[in-house]
Amino acid sequence: MAVRPRTWIIAVAAVVAVCCVGGIAGVAVLLRTSTVDTRGDVEFVNPLAIPPLAPSTIDEQGRRVFDLDAAPGRHDFGERASRSGGLSGSGEVQTWGFNGDYLGPTLRASRGEEVVVNVHNGLDEETTVHWHGMHLPAAMDGGPHTPVAPGTTWSPQWLIDQPAATLWYHPHPHGQTAEHVYRGLAGLFLVDDPATEVAALPNRYGVDDIPVVVQDKNFDGDRLDFGQSMLGMGILGDSIVVNGTLAPYQEVTTERVRLRLLNGSNARVYQFGFADGRDFALVGTDGGLLPAPVTTDRIMLSPAERAEIVVTVRPGERAVLRSNPPSLGTPLSRFYGGSDGFDVLELRAGQTLDPSPAVPDRLVPVPALDADAAAQTRSVRLTDQGINNRSMDMSRIDATMAPGATERWRVNNADGKPHSLHIHGVSFQVTSIDGAAPPAHLRGWKDTVYVAPEVDEYELVIRFPEYTDPTIPYMYHCHVLYHEDQGMMAQFVVVEPGDQVAPLSVQHPHHH
Ligand code: C2O
Ligand code: CU
Ligand code: CU
Repeated sequence: MAVRPRTWIIAVAAVVAVCCVGGIAGVAVLLRTSTVDTRGDVEFVNPLAIPPLAPSTIDEQGRRVFDLDAAPGRHDFGERASRSGGLSGSGEVQTWGFNGDYLGPTLRASRGEEVVVNVHNGLDEETTVHWHGMHLPAAMDGGPHTPVAPGTTWSPQWLIDQPAATLWYHPHPHGQTAEHVYRGLAGLFLVDDPATEVAALPNRYGVDDIPVVVQDKNFDGDRLDFGQSMLGMGILGDSIVVNGTLAPYQEVTTERVRLRLLNGSNARVYQFGFADGRDFALVGTDGGLLPAPVTTDRIMLSPAERAEIVVTVRPGERAVLRSNPPSLGTPLSRFYGGSDGFDVLELRAGQTLDPSPAVPDRLVPVPALDADAAAQTRSVRLTDQGINNRSMDMSRIDATMAPGATERWRVNNADGKPHSLHIHGVSFQVTSIDGAAPPAHLRGWKDTVYVAPEVDEYELVIRFPEYTDPTIPYMYHCHVLYHEDQGMMAQFVVVEPGDQVAPLSVQHPHHH
């Protein structure tokens, strides 16, 4: 990982520009945002909210039907509690949520099921709901081409056809994703796969299988603060909420507990581990379980990445999940949150614990995608202007793939800021990083990957969907939501070779 001088120059130029333009105030903001460290200082006083499992019904065609209603609300994140500063209440804050005032219920369905989700937009502006990590037709994917007008209902339906995984859903309206997600619109979608179920993994939702949606917020009285950080990352918050709870604790009644970690933040990268440095078993990544557990004491997650971990606790102890300063792979790391640390969640083990089976040595088969079988190699550079120097254009198709095509992507960070590349509709594999085999935690199914400035090339192998649609594209983009909204996004369609790609209709241009 050589430091490329060009990255340095761009990044240093950015700092100089910001300081000159912003003057003293700019310097003050840089300093204020450059380090936040709550490690060791959090009193965990609020029981962790567990998003309810969404109720569903089976319709006459045998489809599992869910309802989601996006609406504004007021949410109490709980007490902010610091050992040094004492207690203060967050009070009620203006938020948005699905079927509630903040976040949304956890949807859950099994491989082989047909699902329908009735998405009602109870906001007074357009939104969309995207099923992040789901393999499904582009028309059901919920990207910016399928807006849901206020007061209307959109009812996508699809067949669940992928391995068990922790997926999620969130809005994706053109240019407005950061705001809609930050206000609180997001939830988990758990896929089960009865054929490859690993029964020994903790699987009782809310008991020993805990959803952990981590987000950072800035509060401003009864509102969320949307102030942008100075170095073009969007929002970096100084308060951590888990499932919408500040300073949370979770009672644990079993020897082992599975945490389904989602980085649901707009821009922040976390380096999760435990305060006492204990090891845990990493059992799954974005798109499913790993072939075998990886024993580690840390897992880094950039925005939208997920990890499933199994941690062992001793009777009566308190184990604190924290985020240590992440290695962002840039010399300017601290300006992007790279020196920040947070206490995230306290696990409170009961005096007696129910036994849990050991984590098995083998989990599920993960067939390796073969880079040499790729029909095409594509270079994807994350640049100041967007992707390959082009900013997102709703009416332009950037790539066309044949159904089921395998491609090799060479991904490179060309602007020096931290980025998190996500591809819709697929799970991919990271086959090399600067020519070397990826670390064990990146060897499973992924749909989002951190792209460090100091790395010259991430090689991904991707198998594109079988579903064809000449009129509605899938997206690939940076999941730092400010970057996405600013145009670091591109579109691909899947069509039979030789088929015409219809001009994209853009019925809902976005007005700033
Ligand atoms: Cu999680 Cu295009 O999004
Ligand atoms: Cu997605
Ligand atoms: Cu980015």
